[in-house]
Amino acid sequence: MAKCLNPGFNHPRGYDGGPENIKFGSLQMFVKNCGSCEDMGPRDFPVEEVHKITVLDIRTANADRHAGNILLNREGGHIVLTPVDHGYCLPENFKDCTFDWLYWPQSREPYSKQALDYINSLDAEQDIALLSAYGWDLSLECARTLRVSTMLLKKGAANGLSPFAIGRIMCRETVNKESMIEKMVQKAHDSMLMGMNEAEFLETVSNMLDFELENMCV
Ligand SMILES: Nc1ncnc2c1ncn2[C@@H]1O[C@H](COP(=O)(O)OP(=O)(O)OP(=O)(O)O)[C@@H](O)[C@H]1O
Ligand SMILES: [Mg+2]
Repeated sequence: MAKCLNPGFNHPRGYDGGPENIKFGSLQMFVKNCGSCEDMGPRDFPVEEVHKITVLDIRTANADRHAGNILLNREGGHIVLTPVDHGYCLPENFKDCTFDWLYWPQSREPYSKQALDYINSLDAEQDIALLSAYGWDLSLECARTLRVSTMLLKKGAANGLSPFAIGRIMCRETVNKESMIEKMVQKAHDSMLMGMNEAEFLETVSNMLDFELENMCV
């Protein structure tokens, strides 16, 4: 987040360089690109370039991951993918999660050892503390989304599931059919006893997820 003063910005009430002219928003590094993934078929995207985005999207329960939000560049003969537009990450629930990469063949490949090590190192509590240190205190609902999505990613990967298989647990197959993760969260919510705390809630989801993953054909 940045505060910025610049006479070139839109100042409908005039500009005198005073505090009322200060703009507040997000400042990002510009990423060079030659279009987005909407502009070409996925066939030539490197597996690890797709997989890094699958990790980010599952982890953040991204609800706006269409191909237009992945920039494409060619660097020394290699295709490099850069995910952008993360304004609808960590939603309060999973109902809008959709991932265009579910339909790309790379998502059916297993994660590499390097990706698995990275996934294993993730810690939702650390992420929540980090966001808080930067001034963003997640609501209980959004923090829960991050906790559940991190849990799903870690357990799914540890059980040998591909990004596709994990993503399918998070996303709705059709608009009106709740995803597996939505059903689990709802079931855990329904079974919540008076005074049940967040840790106990997560433990309930964790047990349900273990059960489902055990019965899932890898
Ligand atoms: N070249 C780039 N380098 C870095 N970030 C970029 C770049 N292009 C887009 N973004 C990021 O993606 C955000 C949305 O840009 P995008 O081009 O996806 O617009 P949009 O799709 O019209 O937005 P929305 O999806 O909200 O309607 C920007 O605010 C910026 O954060
Ligand atoms: Mg966009």
